[in-house]
Amino acid sequence: MLQHKHLLGLEGYPSKDIQTIIDTAFGFRKVLERPIKKVPSLQGKTVVNLFFEMSTRTRISFELAQKRMSADTVSFSAASSSLNKGESFKDTVQNIEAMKIDAVILRHPASGAPQHLTKFVDAIVINAGDGTHEHPTQAILDMMSLQEQFNSLEGLKVGIIGDISHSRVALSNIFGLTTMGADVMICGPSTLMPPHIEKLGVKVSYDMDEVVDWADAVNILRIQLERMDTGLYPSVREYRELFGLSVERIKRHSKDLVVMHPGPMNRGTEIDSAVADSDRAIILDQVLNGVASRMAILYLLLGGKMEEN
Ligand code: CP
Repeated sequence: MLQHKHLLGLEGYPSKDIQTIIDTAFGFRKVLERPIKKVPSLQGKTVVNLFFEMSTRTRISFELAQKRMSADTVSFSAASSSLNKGESFKDTVQNIEAMKIDAVILRHPASGAPQHLTKFVDAIVINAGDGTHEHPTQAILDMMSLQEQFNSLEGLKVGIIGDISHSRVALSNIFGLTTMGADVMICGPSTLMPPHIEKLGVKVSYDMDEVVDWADAVNILRIQLERMDTGLYPSVREYRELFGLSVERIKRHSKDLVVMHPGPMNRGTEIDSAVADSDRAIILDQVLNGVASRMAILYLLLGGKMEEN
């Protein structure tokens, strides 16, 4: 039902398939509103969640998506596995596949790990975030949430603000949104901006007020505090002043602005609590849409069966 067997990233991913996933996800959103949130769509399918990095939203939403669709699921934690006895990534995955699985959801700190995995397993591979490369399922849930707010992505003005250089969320959103006809402006400190990024078809700004003034919606990225020691930005206080979505900054612009954040948030740094908790923020809608989007992705890639009613 989708052109590609795996979902490794949104670079070059067909717009028709992105739209099919979003439309299918809206169908699954209805399942999530029911008293009994379970359908038999993936009965008999086995999915393994392989997380080599910490996660709250992606891991739980994938696990819930699998359970909601009646798949058999196993979740693997690198910390308690035989990787700690020296077993390689390849051997680990090939042993898991020998137990007859249909799909692997992989989060890994190394960019390209999901692509590498496809070389030695037959199972469907879904990228749940690889290094600083891509996080395609996050971008799909973000686009679903924008479509829910604005009905269409075509011509929508979306600002992406923060650490663009290290953000797989930013890259997948840039690929997905530009494919779907949205206008994207990215903004952040010059030390956290990749060179030649405008070649991806985005506008670049170093002025947060310009972006807030221009955009219909802004996606605020987590500032990775662990990078402060490396001198990529001077201080939390200065970051908030220049690139934080503060109450004062919002007040300077008399317009409706939809606010998104992929989580986890640093309240008081890239976003003020009062903004994150305000009506303009759709951060928890994104989380719910994360379950629906992942249901749709699993359903479409694993050839699930629809309910008969
Ligand atoms: N947005 C996101 O990927 O969150 P987690 O790291 O908690 O999965």
